[in-house]
Amino acid sequence: MTKFIDSDYVQQLRDITFRSYDAGWDERNGGNVSIRLTEEDLKDFEDVKKTKREFDLGFDAKEVAGQYFLVTGSGRYFRNVTSRPTKDAGLIRISDDGQKAELRWGFEDGARPTSELPTHLMAHIARLKVNPNHRVVMHCHPTNFIALSFTQDLDERHISRLLWKMQAESLVVFPEGIGIIPYMTPGTNEIGEATAKKMSEYKVVMWPHHGIFAVGDNPDETFGLIETVEKAATIYSQIGAQGGQIKQAITDEQLHELADAFGVVGNPKFLD
Ligand code: 13P
Ligand code: ZN
Repeated sequence: MTKFIDSDYVQQLRDITFRSYDAGWDERNGGNVSIRLTEEDLKDFEDVKKTKREFDLGFDAKEVAGQYFLVTGSGRYFRNVTSRPTKDAGLIRISDDGQKAELRWGFEDGARPTSELPTHLMAHIARLKVNPNHRVVMHCHPTNFIALSFTQDLDERHISRLLWKMQAESLVVFPEGIGIIPYMTPGTNEIGEATAKKMSEYKVVMWPHHGIFAVGDNPDETFGLIETVEKAATIYSQIGAQGGQIKQAITDEQLHELADAFGVVGNPKFLD
């Protein structure tokens, strides 16, 4: 019998959570990840077939009914997921009526899914409408990206262009730019709805004074996206540390050349 603990999916979650902690983006229980899995992905794992507990979702997730999500636990530390995956992570199946999450594996010491589950599921629903290969939603607290939300206008065009111009790879990795919601209370359906609305256009959404939500087709791509955004924000911070005076920078024309060379379409709202 193949055990779920030995699957690539659990290995990917262990890896991504520890790397994010190690990067300094997940103090204490900060951050949460969900990886979408299908019945087909799980067909060989005998130990995920029975429901062990149920959680009320508090909103209608019918659009992902029957789909599975490997998620981190609420209050659990990213630092620990790699050493205690059966406690700090869980595999849930969305019930056929879309109202509940059925626990199929993990959360062995009584844990429950992340408090940001509404945002994760709503973001999965929104992304699946624009990308059938979509799999991963990740939230964490990258320091320099959060700092931008204090010093810069919370304007999508402004922040997107600022980050695009900090390094050549930004435009290539996030050509859509950055979506921004107003500051809102975390863990609520309202912040989930606002984030998901942005996710139909953007793969990265800023939660001002809190963190980032990012999506991708696999854990590596999603983590790489966050790394690239945070690297751009770090360069901006370092420019400040070096006196803040910019003597030369990537021009608008060079952004167009980059887009052409790498075959990406920069968001026309932000590319001059
Ligand atoms: P959880 O521990 O419930 O996942 O919450 C962490 C967090 O970062 C909230 O935004
Ligand atoms: Zn958070």
